[in-house]
Parts: sequence; structure tokens; C-alpha cells
Amino acid sequence: MSVYYDGNKKIFGLHTKNTSYLIGITPEGYVGHIYYGDRLQKETEAYLLRTEEAPYTPSVNKREKSSFLDFFPMEFPTGGVGDYRESCLNIRNEDGCMGCELFYEGHEIFGGKKKLEGLPASFGAEEQVQTLELICKDPVLGLKVILSYSAFEEEDIIARSVQVVNEGTQKLKIEKVYSACLDMDNESFEMLSLHGSWARERHIQQGELRYGKQMVSSARGESSHQEHPFLALVTPGTGQQQGKVYAMNFVYSGNFIAQAERTQFDMVRMVMGIHQEEFCWNLKPGEAFQAPEVILTYSGQGLGKMTRSFHDFYRNHMIRSPYNHKKRPILINNWEATYFDFNTEKLLDIAGEAKKDGIEMLVMDDGWFGKRNLDDSSLGDWQVNETKITGGLKALVEKVNEIGLEFGIWFEPEMISPDSELYRQHPDWAIQIRGREATQSRCQYVLDLSRPEVLEYVYDCVAKILHSANIVYVKWDMNRQLSDLGSSWLDRESQGELFHRYVLGVYALQERLVSEFPDLLLENCSGGGARFDPGMLYYSPQIWCSDDADAIERLVIQEGTSLVYPLSTMGAHVSDCPNHSVGRVTPFETRGHVALAGTFGYELDITKIPAEDRKLIPEQTRMYHKYHELIREGDYYRIASYRENHLYDCWAVASKDKKEVLVTYVQVLGVPNSHSRKLYLQGFDPEGVYRLEDTEERYTGEMLMKAGFLMRGFWGDFKSRLYHFIREA
Ligand code: DGJ
Repeated sequence: MSVYYDGNKKIFGLHTKNTSYLIGITPEGYVGHIYYGDRLQKETEAYLLRTEEAPYTPSVNKREKSSFLDFFPMEFPTGGVGDYRESCLNIRNEDGCMGCELFYEGHEIFGGKKKLEGLPASFGAEEQVQTLELICKDPVLGLKVILSYSAFEEEDIIARSVQVVNEGTQKLKIEKVYSACLDMDNESFEMLSLHGSWARERHIQQGELRYGKQMVSSARGESSHQEHPFLALVTPGTGQQQGKVYAMNFVYSGNFIAQAERTQFDMVRMVMGIHQEEFCWNLKPGEAFQAPEVILTYSGQGLGKMTRSFHDFYRNHMIRSPYNHKKRPILINNWEATYFDFNTEKLLDIAGEAKKDGIEMLVMDDGWFGKRNLDDSSLGDWQVNETKITGGLKALVEKVNEIGLEFGIWFEPEMISPDSELYRQHPDWAIQIRGREATQSRCQYVLDLSRPEVLEYVYDCVAKILHSANIVYVKWDMNRQLSDLGSSWLDRESQGELFHRYVLGVYALQERLVSEFPDLLLENCSGGGARFDPGMLYYSPQIWCSDDADAIERLVIQEGTSLVYPLSTMGAHVSDCPNHSVGRVTPFETRGHVALAGTFGYELDITKIPAEDRKLIPEQTRMYHKYHELIREGDYYRIASYRENHLYDCWAVASKDKKEVLVTYVQVLGVPNSHSRKLYLQGFDPEGVYRLEDTEERYTGEMLMKAGFLMRGFWGDFKSRLYHFIREA
């Protein structure tokens, strides 16, 4: 049993292959955190709750409750009653007072895992996951809180979520509800998080955890370019293969907070959930609120193990698209090729040339609808612009199919341009505050997705286009963050629900889309990579990683992204040069090798690129066909980081059976008068003998990993090489 209850000791245990998580119940019913770490094999005890220590022993001595609450390692701390650290649940009663205290009432343990109403969440069969539901109550409020823990044994993951049910008679307000908390003793932790901006998303940052609260968050209505719903606490000296790592990742695509707090007693509270800013949810008697899921993992073997736990978990238990384990077509997207300046003829030109080189799908990006020739109009008017797409969409798709390519299309369904028929008819469908001119961003407003008729309209527009032609792929874009939060549809009391209702609206739309079009390949995108999160992965197996497709910028972006997410989820293309974001010129070959570590595709005008680049495309498409399965299904190892050494980057992907390992090495800057560089590779079977493809060089896995492999220097900057090792014995 991976989840058990020891009734005598009042201990709940959740075991995965390499980890154990222990929860203890005090005599009064407080739910405390005992332990999370390396797998325990023997009897477990509750002494780490420290209930015997001064100044307060709840069962013996009622003299100093606040001291107790302010120190006790809580599984789910509540606000207003004396635990002054960050709370996870703040409830305001009808009198306007905030306070809540939870006591254990009962529990349920079962195989499998329930769905979360209206939300993306992990899934698994009875033999893959066991769930513990702890039922807690606040007797004063009549509030029931269900703390749910699902242990995924094979992947070393615990998925946590929380449901709050009003079983009382008062109208309550949830002013804050997070999804997970981890109270621990400090181990000189460092905090590792992902930060960024447009075109440079998910850069890794790490630093000492100081006293007080340190957080990353978004209040932009999406998970954001700027900060990422991921947080890890690591012990000093943690690297790819050593060190303790406690990590959380949020299955949510809206506002979030991920925070670590080092307290006066050198304890650490790590929390994650929906950001409380501009959040207030009304909970009438009989109603329930479901908070999104947090994915929790512990690794005692460094960051590499954490990464592979997340990768396996997302591939096995989050991504449900049929493309999850299937080859994705090599696409060519016309955005950087033409921007808004295209027509049927131009697209067919691109398609015709692309076909010759082994490309398999044409994606028509922004600008095919309404009167959109720039980014200043027509969002919401999802009718094909027949002056550009002469003969209509169906005819275009048929011609592309005749050429031998599949067809994909771009939408930005959540938005409305002030200059659109839709806005002229329904100005009240835009999110805005009555009496205040709403802030435009990229010349657009955001649609009020809390409003059912808006959801209906948006869905019908997308579905109608998809029914009108043979479209197999959709890029779902979202190009601005939310502001001026106001809904003309929600009442005064409910405006604080808008941020969350917006995200629920996005989920409802995507759920409907993938249900009605189960074979559709959906790629989410938000001005590049602003909504790259596990919530989106539930609907789409891949997400556009960044608008910056420069091979060198991508090294850092893809290193940060792949710290958590599988390579198969990272939208990556060979793009035009000089690069449209940084003006850098990199070899076509390097652009191909870097894009191979993602979904792989093209984003350039194939009819115009230099002949010597063009010549490489057939070779690159063959390369994709050779390696796509390994990259999609294999184990990822980070070998070296350009972000750290400023000279070179290296990663490896090993097949699960360790029969082959593909190492990618990028020499960002050449070094004069230097010898070969020794790198300690990973991912091999130490017992195995491997041949380096296209050579007669043979190595044992042990030698490559313990003694190292020599990367011979080559001439030039921004150059890259693939090393394919095949096991022979
Ligand atoms: C932002 C996306 O990231 C780009 O790839 C492109 O689709 C543009 N939007 C189109 O407006």
C-alpha cells in the first residue's frame, strides 16, 4: 500500500518509490506535517511534530495556544487565529470577521484519483495512484475542508489539492485559498525559481533563503512571462546529481503565488496557490470551492532526478492528447516569414517548397480574418478575409492538402479589438471597469470569459472554422495580460471572482474543443511563452516556448523550461536570420539542433532563405524522423549549462532501455589555443559498451560517466554537434 493510516499513532503515510510523506494528527485534531524526504522502510513515529516541547502542550496545558500555532508544522494553516506565518485559507464570516481553525474529522483512502470539477488535473489508474482525503472541519463556521493527497508511486510525485465546502448557515467569503503548504526545518535552503520577460522566459535563478517571505507570483491573469508557478528549495551544493530538492509546480494558468518563508525559529513554510490579490470568492451555504492542484516532488539525488520525475509524471499523468506519445508533424509557420503580409498565393508557394524538403504541415498564423493587416483590429471577427485568402479557407486547405501537407491555423479566441464588429456590437463583452477607459495592450481588450454567452460565441467561432475545412492543428494564442478587472455581467459582490472565473472560462473552452475535436493537435501560446504551465498541458501536448527562437537565447530558455517540462512539450522552431528578436546570426545547423530538443518545426520564408541553408532542411527533417521518439519519450540529462559557464551548453537524452543516448553540444563561443573539453556524461548504463555512431570509437557507459568524454574543439562560435551513442554490448 503506498498510502496507509496507523490508527494507534495517528500517522498517515504516503510512500512513493523513493520518497515518504508523513502526516500526524495531534490529540486535539490539528493536522501536522511530520516528514517529507527519502523513502522510509521501517516503523514511523510522530515525535517530529514536537508537541511535547515548551511553551505549549495542547493536550496538557492550554496556557499559550498562539505560541503553539505559530510554530507547529501545519499541513494547511488557516488565518486569523494565531499562526502568524503565511496562511493558506482566509475565511470571512457574515459579521465581517476573518478567522478559521481546522480539526481532523475523518479520512478516506482509495485507489485512483478523482477529477477536479472544471479544472485541469493529473489522472491515473487505481494501480498507479492512491489518494488520501483528509476531512477537516471548522465547527464554528460549519466549514468542511478536504485536503487531498495523491501518491504516484512510480514517478515520486504527490499531487495535492483542496476543496472548501460551506456546510454552515452563513454566507462566507473565501479571501485566500492556497493549494499546498510544506512546513520544514530550514536546511540552509536556497530558493530556485524561474523568472523572465517577453522573449526571455524561464531563466533559472537561485539564491539564499533569507528570514522573512520570498516569493514569485503573477497577478497578470496568466501564469506569465515574468515569473513562473514553480518553486524549489534546495540544500547548499545541490547539482544535477546530488543534493536535496523540494519542489512545487502549480496546475493553473492564472494568478499564482509561490512563496518560501523563513521564520524566527528557523523553520521554513513553502506555499503555493491562487494569488490572493483581487481574489474573493463567495461561498453560500451548500456551495463548494475547488482549488487547483499542486504537484509536489522530493529528490534526494539532485535536480536531475527532480526533472525526470516531473517529465515522466507530465507525460504519463497530465497530458491526455493522443499526440502525447505520437510523432508530431514537422510544421512550417508563416509568422516570421510574412507577418501579416500574406495571401493564398504566398502560402501555397511556401507549402510547395516546404513539401519538397520533407516538411509535413503548413500553419497559417495571425492575419487571415476580418480586416486584420496589422495587430490593431478584428480580434473577435473570426470570418476569413477573402481578399487575402482568395477562394476561401476550404479551397486553400484543399490545395495545401493536394500539395501533400496538412493544415493548421492560428486563433486568439480570448480577445477583442476595439476596432472590430464584435466590439461595436458588444462593448460590454470586454473586461473593463464602468466609467474608466480600459487600458489597451497590443491594441486589444480581453473578453469577459466569466460570461456564458461570450463563451458560447467564442467557441462557436472556433468550431465553425474547424468544421469548414480539413484543419488538424490549432495554435491558441493569448497576447495580452489582464487589467481593469470589471465585468458588466457579474454583480457587485462577485467582482473578486473574475480573475478565477476567467481562467475557468479558458479551461471550459479548451475542454469543449478537445472533446469535440479529439484528434486535433492543439498548441497553446501566449505572446510566446507566457502561459507555459501544467494546466495548459492538460489540454495541449505542446506550448510555444518563446517568441525568441534565436538558438543561443533558446539555450537558456529551454534549459529553464526543461528543468520542469518534457522536451516534447516545448514548441521550438528553426527560425529566420538575422534573428528577429536579437539580430544574431547563427548557423542553420545549430538552429536545427536546438529546435530538435523541442517539438521541431520551421518559422521562416523557405522561398527566400539562402541556398546553403535550404540544402540542410531535408537533412534536418531526416534527423527529426530519426530522433523524434527518443526525444519525446527518453530521459533528459543536463550535462553543462551555458548560463553558468558562458561558453558552452550540453544535454543528453537517453532511451528508457539505455540502448541509445543522444548528446547535444553547443559551442557558444570558441576558445583559442585550447584542448578538447572533458564532460561527464549521464544517462548510460555503466555496464554497457557504446559505439559513437559514424565512428569506430567505443566506450563503456561507466567510463563516459565517471571518467568523462572528450569534446573535441571545433572552429567558430554558435556551432553545435550531435553525438549519438548506440549500445553494442
Ligand atoms: C504571438 C505568438 O507568440 C507569435 O508566434 C505569433 O503567433 C503572434 N502572436 C501573432 O500575433
